[in-house]
Amino acid sequence: MASTIQQQLTYHTKQAVKEIYGADLPDNQITIQETRKEFDGQLTVVVFPITRFSRKSPEATGNDIGAYLLRQLPELTAFNTIKGFLNLSLSDAYWTSLFTTAVMHEKFGRFPANGHKLMVEYSSPNTNKPLHLGHIRNNLLGYSVASILAAYGYEVIKANLVNDRGIHICKSMLAWQRWGNGETPGTSGMKGDHLVGKYYVLFDKEYKKEIDELRAHGHTEDDAKKQAPIIREAQQMLQRWEAGDEEVIALWKTMNGWVYDGFAQTYGRLGVDFDKYYYESDTYLLGKDIIQEGLEKGVFFRKPDNSVWIDLTADGLDEKLVLRGDGTSVYITQDMGTAQLKYDDFGMDESIYVVGNEQDYHFKVLFLILEKLGKPWAKGLFHLSYGMVDLPSGKMKSREGTVVDADDLMDEMVTTARKRTEELGKTEGLPEPEKAALYDIIGMGALKYFLLKVEPKKRLLFDPNESIDFQGHTGPFIQYTHARIQSVLTKGGYTQQQAIVVPEVLTESERDLIQLLSNYPATVEAAAKEFSPAYVANYGYEVAKQYNKFYHEETILKASDEAVRNFRLHLSATTARIIASAMALLGIAVPDRM
Ligand code: ARG
Repeated sequence: MASTIQQQLTYHTKQAVKEIYGADLPDNQITIQETRKEFDGQLTVVVFPITRFSRKSPEATGNDIGAYLLRQLPELTAFNTIKGFLNLSLSDAYWTSLFTTAVMHEKFGRFPANGHKLMVEYSSPNTNKPLHLGHIRNNLLGYSVASILAAYGYEVIKANLVNDRGIHICKSMLAWQRWGNGETPGTSGMKGDHLVGKYYVLFDKEYKKEIDELRAHGHTEDDAKKQAPIIREAQQMLQRWEAGDEEVIALWKTMNGWVYDGFAQTYGRLGVDFDKYYYESDTYLLGKDIIQEGLEKGVFFRKPDNSVWIDLTADGLDEKLVLRGDGTSVYITQDMGTAQLKYDDFGMDESIYVVGNEQDYHFKVLFLILEKLGKPWAKGLFHLSYGMVDLPSGKMKSREGTVVDADDLMDEMVTTARKRTEELGKTEGLPEPEKAALYDIIGMGALKYFLLKVEPKKRLLFDPNESIDFQGHTGPFIQYTHARIQSVLTKGGYTQQQAIVVPEVLTESERDLIQLLSNYPATVEAAAKEFSPAYVANYGYEVAKQYNKFYHEETILKASDEAVRNFRLHLSATTARIIASAMALLGIAVPDRM
């Protein structure tokens, strides 16, 4: 592959330092960045680190290097040094050839296969209630990171670890047995996951009542929580489940089936999918052989009550239980087993867990344990931790008052998109099915963009109204820009087959647009390396903004020169393609009109 201008500048800057100052400049001392808008030029070499070798002022050093580069690189037309920054101007011929050879390329932004396999586990819900706003962030992040890594050349496996067994599931089941009167999604018209969630809430109500009663009779809170008849019954149900009781298993299958149908709808609407499902009902006994292995290796130790522990005090953590005294698993036991199972199944080089930051400690301990056990694949494990999502107070409190239901939120987004679009009169005369499809694209785009433009680590406040602002830093603004370009292309009779003619001279906004478009692969690379869709999201916004600047500053369809008109249409089409590609990495659709 031909070297990029950045690589050439790095090479020649080193050569310059060698020839002029007789010194070896280490690669990590060379920084090349984009020139700030207030200065002339497009690329800038930071010269401060070089003054150590030149023993001259930053300006004089910059001028030495600039003059050298100008002689060596035909692409350069001028330079200026401001403080310690050497600003370089590249010729229009350089930018137009970059545009025709690289940017216009079909696979632009998609890297060749790198031979590495990677698993992204995300979503991983519990089957006792519907998905909520936190899951939306999780699902969007997981799906987007997986798409970005695939574009970057990884073979990606998207996995979902469903927590389908345990006491929480028995709670819903027990409540349904008691108060359900045979209610099903079919008879109630309720989505299956919502129906099961309703019984989970009912269980909790009854449980609280029983706790209060016991406390009124003098029990301590702890004791009341253990003695409440309903929780004891749920525990018995779990024991029957584990013993293979047919009646319990049948009910469990039925109710889980309802939940899966509901989840499938929510996933479909979110546009996320999975290559592999793991179910805790299959994996909950795993991990016990790893306990044995750890005891033999002296990584774990047993306490007198027979429980098994690991001492992590030397690592700045504490003692951690890995198996209960009665031989039953805890959360981390299962995760050890599942990590091994995933690796046995796929032999991947890296494995990412998209899970909220309330589990930071859990994953720290899990990965440390697997390392201490000498698992060669442990170094490839990574917890992609993300912050909570809040809503402005007063917004959309769900029935239980705490979490915001995922389905309700998506409905509200689409309704708001309809309202906003119709207020602006944007869709008058469009047939209703097309309108509905468009509002779905806009509403979902607003939601997805707002959640993905923020660094995963950061906690965020989701403001539905702000997210849908057509003029703001939003998905709909980018979608709108895409639609605007499509309309220009249609009016201009553009076809991709048209030969491209490049002008000899570029305007500033054309040059800036080409430069920005050429940053797309580096953006995908940064997002892949940091596991952060925020890079791609913010890049998409920059491209949309720059296109709008170009659109307002230049005439496209009425350009007097046919070659200029042709070039600007190609530039527009390429911008649209890159916007669509970047948004696809976020799972966001872009409309052709809106
Ligand atoms: N089901 C868990 C929850 O809802 C998340 C599981 C995360 N994945 C894992 N391998 N531990 O909190």
